[in-house]
Amino acid sequence: MLRRSFLQGVAAGTLVSGSVSIKPSLALTQLDQSHFELVAEIGKGALGPVGTSQTDLWLYNGTTPGPMLTVTKGDELIVNFFNKLDQPTTIHWHGIRNLNEMDGVPDLTQVPVDPGEEFTYRFPVRDAGTFWYHAHSKAWEQVTRGLYGPLIVREPDANPGVEDITLVADDWRLTEDYQFHEESLGSMMDWSHQGRLGNWLTINGQSNPAIPIRAKNLARIRLINTANARSMTFEFDGKHFEVIALDGEPCSPFVASEIMVAPAQRVDILINTDSSNFSLSEISTGTPVILATFKAHTSALNIPDRPDLQAKTFRSDLEMIDIDIHMQGGAMGNLASAFFEGEERPLQDLAMEHSKLWAFNGSIGGSDHLLADVDLGKTVNLRVWNDTSWSHAMHLHGHHFWVKSHEFGGEPKRVLRDTYLMQPNERAELQFVADNPGLWLFHCHMLEHHTAGMGGVIAIS
Ligand code: C2O
Ligand code: CU
Repeated sequence: MLRRSFLQGVAAGTLVSGSVSIKPSLALTQLDQSHFELVAEIGKGALGPVGTSQTDLWLYNGTTPGPMLTVTKGDELIVNFFNKLDQPTTIHWHGIRNLNEMDGVPDLTQVPVDPGEEFTYRFPVRDAGTFWYHAHSKAWEQVTRGLYGPLIVREPDANPGVEDITLVADDWRLTEDYQFHEESLGSMMDWSHQGRLGNWLTINGQSNPAIPIRAKNLARIRLINTANARSMTFEFDGKHFEVIALDGEPCSPFVASEIMVAPAQRVDILINTDSSNFSLSEISTGTPVILATFKAHTSALNIPDRPDLQAKTFRSDLEMIDIDIHMQGGAMGNLASAFFEGEERPLQDLAMEHSKLWAFNGSIGGSDHLLADVDLGKTVNLRVWNDTSWSHAMHLHGHHFWVKSHEFGGEPKRVLRDTYLMQPNERAELQFVADNPGLWLFHCHMLEHHTAGMGGVIAIS
């Protein structure tokens, strides 16, 4: 119903005319300040240590991560997208308060882009911050194989003296000779547990890259976690730093010496450098892994002023509409049966026959599962209960929400995010003004969980 009524509204005329040439494998074709070409294609890249063999990957413009798209707040971003894969795909602009028809959700906001076809994404970027783009068709396969990249929206008055470094962290499952682990792709074991956790971490597609950084300076580091399922905790040789933005939104700054970034989340930090090299490590497993090495080089610049970012303030005086979302399912869970395609069926059968394992409010979710229908402009309180044995990175499309976050240790912090990591048994209230009309997904960003039922739609009109 949802699908049919929406698809009628998609214009057939959204394809661009054939004036843009498709090049086989290119870095970044920037046609104009905020006008780019992206090509999804099958290719190869080396993820292991220097000298190890290349593996098969799916790439944007021949690389993973795909090219960094940098625009300025207020620009209109235009991307001529070409699908050279052998299956349909779409691109989602994660964290952007987008126009609904540009949100890139297959069969909900657009017709998927078939192999050999093209599509033009075109939308205003209304907020500065750290975002990313990724495939949203069969994301559990397409993102895992490499289809994602960073999208940076700069403040118009950004101080060029502050060094700006974007680090995209990913978690790959590779074989002993650093080949993509094909055999376990789609494993029900992963789908019913934490998702596809890998065994190899990269930064910007490389193993322990050297990253030049200005000595005795102030750097803004934008951390993006593009992993399917692994939450990572980063530290910088014990150095203290200041957290200044979460999921693209400026926050009330706080000092930390380690920071957790869940799948799909972004964290921007400010860090003071001296003249020594230092490293970035992932420490969540108890065995630190060095992910990147910063090589300090001298710089003639004076220490710049801190960027002056304005954090929004929470309004507690708004009347809210409560929407309850009870998350169940997965291994070691309490979900015996769930509704799927209009019928209540034992979880066992749903798992065996349909690879469905998770539910919202007793129904296997998907982009045809309507969670709520909200009037434009109302304030919504999503009361989410993670009644499962697993953590989930809950993502809302098209909006940021306020949440009292337990992600940083210590007292909970009220922050604006688009993706919130919920611990087993946690209850959270995700509050937002429904000011963006359309059909918006709410789903777990552990991509295997999403495809196995952990998702639904909030309609705003
Ligand atoms: Cu980043 Cu629906 O996803
Ligand atoms: Cu999940």
